[in-house]
Amino acid sequence: MTLLDTIRKRRSVRTFDGEKLREEDARKILEYAVKVENPYGLEITWKLLDAVRYGLSSPVIVGTDTFIAGKMRRVSHAEEAFGYAFEKIVLFAESLGIGTTWIAGTMNRAAFERAMEIAEDEVMPCVSPLGYPAKKMSLRETMMRKGVKADSRFDFDELFFDGSFDSPLSEEKAGRLKEALEAVRTAPSAVNKQPWRVVVDGNRINFYEKRSKGYDTGDWDMQKIDMGIALCHFELTAKECGLDVVFDISDPGFSVGDDTRYIASYNLK
Ligand SMILES: Cc1cc2nc3c(=O)[nH]c(=O)nc-3n(C[C@H](O)[C@H](O)[C@H](O)COP(=O)(O)O)c2cc1C
Repeated sequence: MTLLDTIRKRRSVRTFDGEKLREEDARKILEYAVKVENPYGLEITWKLLDAVRYGLSSPVIVGTDTFIAGKMRRVSHAEEAFGYAFEKIVLFAESLGIGTTWIAGTMNRAAFERAMEIAEDEVMPCVSPLGYPAKKMSLRETMMRKGVKADSRFDFDELFFDGSFDSPLSEEKAGRLKEALEAVRTAPSAVNKQPWRVVVDGNRINFYEKRSKGYDTGDWDMQKIDMGIALCHFELTAKECGLDVVFDISDPGFSVGDDTRYIASYNLK
């Protein structure tokens, strides 16, 4: 299965079949997680947590007692780095047939943070359950998916632009970037807001965040986690398609709306 297939197949899994995460799967995930790097070079510590032992719960998750969580220092770009790295783990889990759901809000956060032994200068942005998807979703899960229109995404030409924000990019015009941008389009995001916008300027692919109200506290912006997920999907898929893309941060200075800000770029060699 290609990575793009895995990306297409992934969905948030909130209803699990009750089987405990097998030892070998737990080991594979942890071994993979500790090796995951991110474009910002920031260190993240991962742990698998037993919900019963630590009193962890999420009102939206049923049928598994295993969670994965990550913690890191609260520094500049922590959100994007975390988004990028955690999504790599999510996709790896998916490739093993293990279900996940990004969770930033619907959990007893204090208990998770205690279990992760969060220090003063650290942050635990999100957690995810790990387990085997049940055949049928719970009613609550079905309702939640409807509530955020979890099965739909913006169209390609609403998200991607050609040379400036005034000129939408069609799939046909995207050429060899088509798959990598499609992987961005289908990514998961908090409340399915899909804040990513991309301006392709020749061989430079510039990522922007179109911010929704209520996700940025000033020192922490949840939607930058979504941006890290978008960067991850783009880079991995571009590389799978044989493209040589190199990450950098250098604002090209395109004019943007007040609610939009530059995040990072890839250069296509
Ligand atoms: C950063 C982030 C935070 C999220 N937080 C939650 C959460 O607290 N609870 C929840 O049920 N889903 C959460 N989600 C899952 C999204 O609702 C889900 O990814 C989105 O609706 C798209 O659905 P899909 O993942 O099935 O494609 C979060 C997703 C992201 C990326």
